[in-house]
Amino acid sequence: MPATIIDGKQIAADVQEELRGRITALSDAGVIPGLAVVLVGENPASVSYVTAKERDCEKVGIRSFDHRIPVETSETDLLDLVDRLNADDAVHGILVQLPLPEHIDSDRVLQRIDPTKDVDGFHPLSLGRMLTGLPTLLPCTPHGVVQMLLRSGHDPAGKHVVVLGRSNIVGKPLANLLALKKTGGNATVTVCHSRTPNIAEFTRQADILVAAIGSAGFVTGDMVADGAVVIDVGVNRVEDPSKKRGYRLVGDVDFDSVAPRAAAITPVPGGVGPMTRTMLLFNTVTAAEQRTQN
Ligand code: GUN
Repeated sequence: MPATIIDGKQIAADVQEELRGRITALSDAGVIPGLAVVLVGENPASVSYVTAKERDCEKVGIRSFDHRIPVETSETDLLDLVDRLNADDAVHGILVQLPLPEHIDSDRVLQRIDPTKDVDGFHPLSLGRMLTGLPTLLPCTPHGVVQMLLRSGHDPAGKHVVVLGRSNIVGKPLANLLALKKTGGNATVTVCHSRTPNIAEFTRQADILVAAIGSAGFVTGDMVADGAVVIDVGVNRVEDPSKKRGYRLVGDVDFDSVAPRAAAITPVPGGVGPMTRTMLLFNTVTAAEQRTQN
C-alpha cells in the first residue's frame, strides 16, 4: 500500500487556528504578541526563512519587528541589540537567525537572549528545562515533529524512534523530547550520526525514522523497514535549471524509493517546514501569555 502523506501544511493550519483564539484573548487584554527577528547579513536561505517567518506572524496577528543588519555588524553591536530587545516590553519573543557570520560567537549571542523570550528554545536554560521535563519554550523543529506525529495518529510512545543527526537545533533536542515521560515522549530512541558505522542496520530497526542530517536523499528505500513512519527534516537546495530560481528543495529522504515501503511519510516541501514555522508562532504566543500573567 502506498504511504500516507503526512500533510505538514494542514497540521500547521490546525495549530494556527488554535493559536488565533489565544491571540484574540491576548488582544482583548490589550496585548499584541510581538516577535523580533534578527538577521545578520544576506544569506539567501536565511533571507527567505526570515521573510516567511514575518509573513506567518502577520497572518495570525503577531506583530513582527524586523532587524536586518549588515554582515559586518560587530558582536558587541549585536549583543547591544539583543539587550535592547530583552528590555522592550512590546517584544515577547526574540529570534536571531542562524548561521551567524564567522566573526560572531553564536553561543554568546544565544545565551544573551532573555530565556523568557527564547522562542527558538536554544538557550542552555531552555534546553536544560526541557531535558528535566520542566515547562519551557521548546525548540521549534523538534516540537513540530512531535506534534506532527501525535496529530497524524503516530504516537511515539513505546515505539523505536531512530533519529539521524545530532545537531543542537534538531537531533539532540528531539531525541530528548521523544524520551521524556510525557505525552509525545515515552519512545525508545537511537541517535545516529556521521560517525555511526553501518547506519542502515539501525535505520531498518526504526518504527519511526527521523532524518535530520542535511544530506539530500541520504535515506533510501533499502534503509527503511516496511511500514515505518518517516519524518524528513532536511531542506536541501539542489540545482535545477528547469526552475525559475535555479534550484529545488529536497529532503534528506529519497522520497521515491522510501514512500513505497513506508506506512506514512512527510513531503519536502510541505512537511516539517510549515510545522517549524508554526511552533515559532506558538512559542511567541506562549511567551506573551506568560509575560501577561506574571
Ligand atoms: N537557522 C536554521 N534553522 C533555524 C531556526 O530554527 N532558528 C534560527 N534562529 N535559525 C535557524
